[in-house]
Amino acid sequence: MKITIQEAPKHVEEEVTIGGWLANKRSSGKIAFLQLRDGTGFMQGIVVKSDVSEEVFTNAKNLTQETSLYVTGKIVEDTRSDFGYEMQVSDLEVIHEATDYPITPKNHGTEFLMDHRHLWLRSKKQHAVMKIRNEIIRATYEFFNTNGFVKVDPPILTGSSAEGTTELFHTKYFDEEAYLSQSGQLYMEAAAMALGKVFSFGPTFRAEKSKTRRHLIEFWMIEPEMAFMDHEDSLQVQENYVSFVVQAVLENCALELKTLERDTSKLEQIQAPFPRISYDEAVEFLKEKGFDDIEWGEDFGAPHETAIAESYDKPVFITNYPKDIKAFYMKPDPERSDVVLCADLIAPEGYGEIIGGSQRIDDLALMEQRYKEHDLTGPAYEWYLELRKYGSVPHSGFGLGLERTVAWLSGVEHVRETIPFPRLLNRLYP
Ligand code: 4AD
Ligand code: MG
Repeated sequence: MKITIQEAPKHVEEEVTIGGWLANKRSSGKIAFLQLRDGTGFMQGIVVKSDVSEEVFTNAKNLTQETSLYVTGKIVEDTRSDFGYEMQVSDLEVIHEATDYPITPKNHGTEFLMDHRHLWLRSKKQHAVMKIRNEIIRATYEFFNTNGFVKVDPPILTGSSAEGTTELFHTKYFDEEAYLSQSGQLYMEAAAMALGKVFSFGPTFRAEKSKTRRHLIEFWMIEPEMAFMDHEDSLQVQENYVSFVVQAVLENCALELKTLERDTSKLEQIQAPFPRISYDEAVEFLKEKGFDDIEWGEDFGAPHETAIAESYDKPVFITNYPKDIKAFYMKPDPERSDVVLCADLIAPEGYGEIIGGSQRIDDLALMEQRYKEHDLTGPAYEWYLELRKYGSVPHSGFGLGLERTVAWLSGVEHVRETIPFPRLLNRLYP
């Protein structure tokens, strides 16, 4: 019977066949240890000279890295490996022999690995990161679907900018000028007025000249938007959502977390509610810590965020930033018009901002005033004003950056390893 490595636990003591690739190999005169992978997982195959034909043993000893093959044998428990099972190989058939596979078990430099990203994805570590990414996406759909949200897909080609015009990718749209979406938010606000609670999941693009371990040019964002929900309601959805995702990864990706040597005790404590600190308090805290490069009214950089996050063992909300350093659509605090009802959620362990969110301006006159201040004119923005004309309601939303969340939960240093084919400042290939 043909099975996958993932299904092996259900076939102990049975003779089965698995189609896979040779990831690595060790052999002596009498025994060959094959590290097999088949996409669903990694498992050891043992070929004992005295148990197989001479031809099978010779073939096993001569296998080259990344050769594709069918292996047949009995699945047995193996308490020494993390996976817990191995195969006593009785037969093998080479499908395609790979020669001179460039990524050998020795260490390679990052640029070399990035040039070979199409092959690097096959490695055990990258496999584990992609499985965690997949689990975060799965848990996201589960969370929002079970909490009454409708998935809505905003456009990717757009005429408007939600997050400022300096980081837009321009493209031709026949005779018009268009951009690649920075955020689906403006469209999700329209959708929330039609469907109540909505969420999107899609690629977004930022022509940011940032070369840091947290920035991608193309990244994926989850953007919920909720009618009749204020800032406080939104913070509660955010902490419940993030806790749900973390616990799902702990539950369903135990093997992958082990492969990545992730300290899971740090993730186990991620349960709502999360601590909150206002922007004002954060500035005071940073000054006390000796940061003399920050003044009220300035945005925080990565070192500031990390210093704040270090005081907590859960993600922390920094709330109520100055209006002038945030987007045009954020609702001012009714008690203080110089700050807005917004929050950034900062992940622990130095992984930075994973969510940006806010309550949106619902008053037409104030939105018109912001349009003037930000010079927003033309058909690309007119429709958005109409949401404040016809039955405007309090509403809030947020955006979670998928790759930064994958980096945090996987414990990988750089976001380039959290997306299959990263787009970076200096990289559009492979
Ligand atoms: O804080 P941002 O810019 O917020 C928005 O775009 C809002 N319109 C979202 C909303 O309210 N619907 O981006 C949201 C998140 C950030 O917290 C971060 O996790 C991620 O998107 N992000 C990036 N991730 C990787 N590379 C980049 N260049 C990123 N820029 C933002
Ligand atoms: Mg932000």
